[in-house]
Amino acid sequence: MKCQEIRDSFLGFFEERGHRIMPSAPLVTDDPTTLFTVAGMQPYIAAFRGEERPPAPRVASNQKCARMGDLERVGRSATHHTFFEMLGNFSFGDYFKQGAIEFAWEYVVDVLGIPPERLWITVYTDDDESEEIWNKQIGVPLERIVRLGRGENWWPEERWEGPCGPCTEIHLDNGPETGCQAANCGPACDCDRFVELWNLVFQMYTEAPDGTLTELPSPGVDTGMGFERLAMILQNKNFSTETDEMWQIIQRTSSVRSRSPGRTGEAISTTDATLRPTWLFG
Ligand code: SER
Repeated sequence: MKCQEIRDSFLGFFEERGHRIMPSAPLVTDDPTTLFTVAGMQPYIAAFRGEERPPAPRVASNQKCARMGDLERVGRSATHHTFFEMLGNFSFGDYFKQGAIEFAWEYVVDVLGIPPERLWITVYTDDDESEEIWNKQIGVPLERIVRLGRGENWWPEERWEGPCGPCTEIHLDNGPETGCQAANCGPACDCDRFVELWNLVFQMYTEAPDGTLTELPSPGVDTGMGFERLAMILQNKNFSTETDEMWQIIQRTSSVRSRSPGRTGEAISTTDATLRPTWLFG
């Protein structure tokens, strides 16, 4: 699948299941707490808190995001970026754990055709309900369901006063031969064996600076699947920079630079229309 086909497929899947498709919010946000939009859920913070009406009870989007939290991994891992696109579906008091898990599995296995035996699941430490849905209803064996704590399966990892809650993630196993070979290598390992594919957050609380959790007016769902990673997997590439769109940008950039030997300090102008992919700049 080409990159644009993946975007269309994801949004089409959720539209068919009653979601309103929302445009990406601007990358530079007017939210005073962040310079850039960092997650697909950011435009919906007030809706999760019950302070604004959501656009619809279920929405889906492909949100342009920029994050600095993983900066030190960019260029070292196969899959981390500063700018990326986040495919996500959201529920505001509509479906919850069961619906989110069923949609995600159906999309990944039935629509994209990713072999289920290559998928591992992580759930939050005490989230028996999600584990039971994955195991008893979806059929994922317990050997491939791992319970992890706040650093991995709570969103966001760092305390903030916005919506937060436990999450469950789908990871793709590239096989033991691709990783660090450690006996305890698993979805939380930093080697490239496991690729986190989709994060399903169960937005349930806001958290005060002292750690006190207050329940949201109604629990919601906020999922995020990194588009570049998904494209890398579906296009059978080893790095998320090798997908059809990203590779074109790299090739074009290299060719421009190679035409200007000796001028390596010169910035490439993004006003050059041929360098502006329309999906990025609109
Ligand atoms: N908010 C979560 C994330 O960014 C899920 O969308 O990973």
